[in-house]
Amino acid sequence: MLELICPLCQQPLLSGSRQWVCANGHSYDQARQGYLNLLLVQHKKSRQPGDTPTMLACRQAFLDAGHYQPVSDRIGELLGAAGPHQLLDMGCGEGYYTARLQQQLPECAIGGMDISKDAIIKACRRGREIQWLVGSTARLPVADASLDAALSVFSPWSWDECLRCLKPGGQLLLVGPHGDHLLALREQLYDSIHPTPELIKALPEGLEIVNDQTLRYALDLTPADLASLIGMTPHGFRSSPERQRTVVETGLTGLEVAMRMVLLQRS
Ligand SMILES: C[S@@+](CC[C@H](N)C(=O)[O-])C[C@H]1O[C@@H](n2cnc3c(N)ncnc32)[C@H](O)[C@@H]1O
Repeated sequence: MLELICPLCQQPLLSGSRQWVCANGHSYDQARQGYLNLLLVQHKKSRQPGDTPTMLACRQAFLDAGHYQPVSDRIGELLGAAGPHQLLDMGCGEGYYTARLQQQLPECAIGGMDISKDAIIKACRRGREIQWLVGSTARLPVADASLDAALSVFSPWSWDECLRCLKPGGQLLLVGPHGDHLLALREQLYDSIHPTPELIKALPEGLEIVNDQTLRYALDLTPADLASLIGMTPHGFRSSPERQRTVVETGLTGLEVAMRMVLLQRS
């Protein structure tokens, strides 16, 4: 089990049967689906933060078809090498990578956290052994120096919170797009391609890079897969519906995944 803390007073949370309570008497009910909501209303920036239900459905369809399984396999290899006991997937979405990690690292206590309640409700169906949490990467609901590993796949993260929660020697794996990621798709959807922002702009003191790699492979997608891929990303609302339709109807050649994976270690 992860060492959860109260989002109000940061005291440890102790579990009862369906309720978690801190020493100051703040209590949080476990939802019937199995997740714990540790996101306080005053910490929400919108009523329904995170990805939309359409994006979630598209992501689940695309990921469950196995198109990013090589990414998930590599994540398991990179994080599994150090034999972590406590791991948090930050911004886990509907839990594809979290659930795969649970299979890859059966001895590890794994939590999946997302700011979107809809995403976590979907994630709960992936397995009850995982601690599913609604929460924000801006305030991780886990104790200081309690995590052996943290993961962020295409999600935001806070350096300060990662530094607070990782044990000395603990690892943080950041996964995000390389500039070439899905380039053939972006070339069809837009007149000009915006440069991909650097995954890491400046490294804080206390973390050092121990592995930096880009995983590349070709994707051969059906029209339905292409529609899911567009729908699960901001391309679904940023690009014109006509161009999206053309891509789905005519298909794409030369589509390539290029995922940057940076593994960092806490000193
Ligand atoms: C692009 S999705 C990636 C989801 C998942 N990691 C994956 O790759 O399938 C980004 C996720 O980050 C979540 N998110 C955005 N801001 C967040 C925050 N401040 N705290 C936690 N999750 C957040 C969104 O709800 C969404 O599920």
